[in-house]
Amino acid sequence: MYKILVRRIVKIKAPYQLVFDTAQDWTHFSHLHHKVIMSHPLLYKNTERQIFLYKARRLYPLPFFDHYVIFREDLPDGYRNVYVNAKSGHAHTVDCKVEAHGEETWVIGDHLFSLPSYWGLLPKLLPKIFLWIYRRRMDEILDEDLEWIYERMIAEDLPLVDSCAPEIPKNYDIMDEFFKTDTLRVPDARFEYHLSEAFDGKGRIHLRNRR
Ligand SMILES: [Fe+2]
Repeated sequence: MYKILVRRIVKIKAPYQLVFDTAQDWTHFSHLHHKVIMSHPLLYKNTERQIFLYKARRLYPLPFFDHYVIFREDLPDGYRNVYVNAKSGHAHTVDCKVEAHGEETWVIGDHLFSLPSYWGLLPKLLPKIFLWIYRRRMDEILDEDLEWIYERMIAEDLPLVDSCAPEIPKNYDIMDEFFKTDTLRVPDARFEYHLSEAFDGKGRIHLRNRR
């Protein structure tokens, strides 16, 4: 495992609340940042934490994608994320804080990446390539956020959350979507097939199957 820590401080001349709400609002990710955040559905939520499934494009417009399960925790001054790569199991973390500094609002993010060991083979080259990809990707997301923040600053009466944004439930559990009742039957199945099998200690006894 090869770890890279990137601390990024972004200083924005904009009100704290606007920047903070933009950092906290995950409902805009797959809309505003759709070039790199391909999908970001909610799997679970309680009052402080959420779990998402995340399909990420490594670098727009290249067709390379990674899939993560994200554990996210809201903090009074920011948020924390753990990104578990669904294929490798490697975890990246982000610890993000939003601070007021006079006319500026600072967004301070500590990103800890866990990469396969071969990233350490060329320590003068590979981390620089990684950083270049990271910066290109993050700059694009930041530009989109800044445009949104400045639009809100110009039109001051714009609500902090867009009216088209999905409603955020207080609690959510994807289990409830599929198992609202005690039955395992999927009510909208187009095709149903019932199988029965039995074992008598010597082998499998096939029973009649019915459609
Ligand atoms: Fe954003």
